[in-house]
Amino acid sequence: MTELKKKDETAAAHGKCMLNRREFLMYSGTAAAAVSTISISLFPGQAQARARVVGYPRKLIGRLSDLQDNQPVDFNYPDDGQNSQCFVVKMAGAKAGGGIGPQRDVVAFSYLCTHQGGFLNGKYQAIGDNRVLGQCPLHLSTYDLTRHGIIISGQAYQSIPQVLLELDGDDIYAVGMMGLLFGRSDNLMES
Ligand code: FES
Repeated sequence: MTELKKKDETAAAHGKCMLNRREFLMYSGTAAAAVSTISISLFPGQAQARARVVGYPRKLIGRLSDLQDNQPVDFNYPDDGQNSQCFVVKMAGAKAGGGIGPQRDVVAFSYLCTHQGGFLNGKYQAIGDNRVLGQCPLHLSTYDLTRHGIIISGQAYQSIPQVLLELDGDDIYAVGMMGLLFGRSDNLMES
């Protein structure tokens, strides 16, 4: 039995998504499982993979036609508890991994820095072709929002958690999360 298949069964037993970021990026959708699936692009220009989203709520977070270029809109996910502050943003045509919409430029992320929980509200920046979150006010970490929130610089060593999105007509739904929210041992359990 492969390691991934073992995790599938464990996740199914607990009703949760247990993929870590590396597994998510490697996952090609070959495993059949009685769980919800969505299509998501990895990096700009790459083929789509199938991501499994188990146990997460499907939450309406906004409408595509309401988003203004480079203007983040706040929401809470996967619940309204501690460290659930997130934002969705249309990055003015900057194609992104996991991006939705005609230009694949609509993404959503946590506001909580993965290092020590610095709050990154107001730290979205569009600089030329770059779309970043940071610098963190505590220790200057900065994240690349076109590449699944990987670290560009600073003290953090984990990517900023990305909210998985679905587009249904004009409606934007949050349907899962890639990466662990700061301060939680499980995204689906408030700490
Ligand atoms: S809390 Fe953000 S870099 Fe330390």
